[in-house]
Amino acid sequence: MTTLQFPDGFLWGTATAAHQVEGGNDNNDWWAWEQIPGRIKNGDSSAVACDWWRGEKYRADFDLARALHQNAHRLSIEWSRIEPRENEWDADAFAFYRRVLTALRERGLTPLVTLHHFANPLWLRARGAWETDAVVPLFERFATRVAQELGDLCDFWITINEPMVYTYTGYVNAKWPPGKSDFGLAMRVLTNVLRGHAAAYRALHRVQPHARVGLAHNMLAFKPARPESALNRVIVRVQDYAYNRVFLLALQDGRLRFPMGSGDVREAIGTQDFIGLNYYFARRIAVDFSQPGSLFGRALPAQPWGVPYDDELLEWFGKGDIDPDAFYRTIKWLAGYGKDKPIYICENGICDRNDELRARYLITHLVALQRAIQEGAPVKGYFYWTLVDNFEWIEGYTLRFGLLANDRATQTRTPKPSAAIYARIARENALVNEPMSQ
Ligand code: FCB
Repeated sequence: MTTLQFPDGFLWGTATAAHQVEGGNDNNDWWAWEQIPGRIKNGDSSAVACDWWRGEKYRADFDLARALHQNAHRLSIEWSRIEPRENEWDADAFAFYRRVLTALRERGLTPLVTLHHFANPLWLRARGAWETDAVVPLFERFATRVAQELGDLCDFWITINEPMVYTYTGYVNAKWPPGKSDFGLAMRVLTNVLRGHAAAYRALHRVQPHARVGLAHNMLAFKPARPESALNRVIVRVQDYAYNRVFLLALQDGRLRFPMGSGDVREAIGTQDFIGLNYYFARRIAVDFSQPGSLFGRALPAQPWGVPYDDELLEWFGKGDIDPDAFYRTIKWLAGYGKDKPIYICENGICDRNDELRARYLITHLVALQRAIQEGAPVKGYFYWTLVDNFEWIEGYTLRFGLLANDRATQTRTPKPSAAIYARIARENALVNEPMSQ
C-alpha cells in the first residue's frame, strides 16, 4: 500500500463565488451584462443560480461538504449587496453573510472569504469601476466594513480574485463586462487593482491585526511547442513573464513592469500574508510573428487527455493541456518566489459533464501537489473548484465543474462519483493506493 501523506492541519475544501451560486442579484455589472442578448451562452440567467440567497441552499450544500469530509470552504461576499448604493450599507446583507459564515463554522468548515470575485456594484460601474483610482478608497472602505461586521467569523481573506483574468477578459478580449479592448486602459485597471488590494490589505489588518490576507492569482503554465527552438523558449518566457509574473513581482518590489511601460505602486510591497494560486492548465505556445498583440506567441490547441473531448471539455481545456506536471512546476516556482510564505491552492478543477475525468484530474493534480510539498513547498490547503455546478459566467450553466450536480428545476443536489474520491482523500489527509483485491 502506498500512502502519499499531506501535512497535519491541511485544508481540504472547495471554492465558490457569490454571483455564481447566490442568484437574486440585479445590482451588479454581471447582471447588466446578462441582459445584453447573446452575451451568455443559451441565454442562461443567474437569477436563481444555486439559490443560496433566497432559498438559503448553502446550508444543504455545506451539509454535503461536511459529509464529504471537507474542513474548509472558500466563498465570496458581494459588494453590490453589502453596499447597494454608494455609502449605503445593507443590514440584511450583513445578516445573510453572518448566517452563511456561521453555517460554515458550525460544520467545522474554515471560511476563506474573497472580497472581489469579478462582479462590481452598478453604482461603481457607473463611476468607471477599476478604471480610475477613485475605486481605491471605496474598496478600502468596503473591506473595512466587512472586517468590522464579520471579522468575528472570519480572519482569512482574499482581497481580489484573479487580477489578470479580470483585466484581460474585461479590457483586452472584451468578452466580459465592460467589454472593452484597450491595452492602455487595461494597464490602468491592473494598476488600480493592485492599489485597491494594497489598501484593503492594510484596512483588514487595521481592524483585525491577526488577519491573514492574500490574493488568488490565476497562473497559466506556458510551454514551448518546440522546446529545441531557442526563439520559442524566449517567447514562452516573455509570455510567462507578462501573464504570470508582472503582478506577483510588483507585490515584492512595488513596480509594475508591463512589456510596454511601467509604473510604481510602492504601497503594494509586502502585502501578501500567503499566496493564493488558481491553476487549471498549461498552454503550448508556437512562434507566430503575425501576433504582436500576444507577444509573438500563438497558443496551440490542446492535446486531449486520454479521451476525445466533448463540447464542454473543449470549451475550457481546448485552450490548454491538462498537465499535472506543469501544476507541480508552477507550485515549485511560487515556493521559490514566496520564500516561506504559505501557499493555498484556491482553485483547481475540471468541467466534466459525465464525471469521467474528474477523479483522474483530481488524483493526478494532488499527486503533483504532494510531491511539491514533499520537496518543501509550503502549501497549506487545496480548494477544488467547485462545490456545486453553478453559473459559469459567459458559459452559463454549460460548464459543470461541481462535485455536486444540481437539478436546477428542483434545486436538488446529487454528489457525483468523484465527490466520494475527494472525500476519501480529505478524510485520510492522504492519497492511499490500496493493492487491487484478487
Ligand atoms: C476561474 C474563476 C471562477 C470560475 C473558474 C472555472 O477563473 O475564478 O470563478 O469561473 O475559473
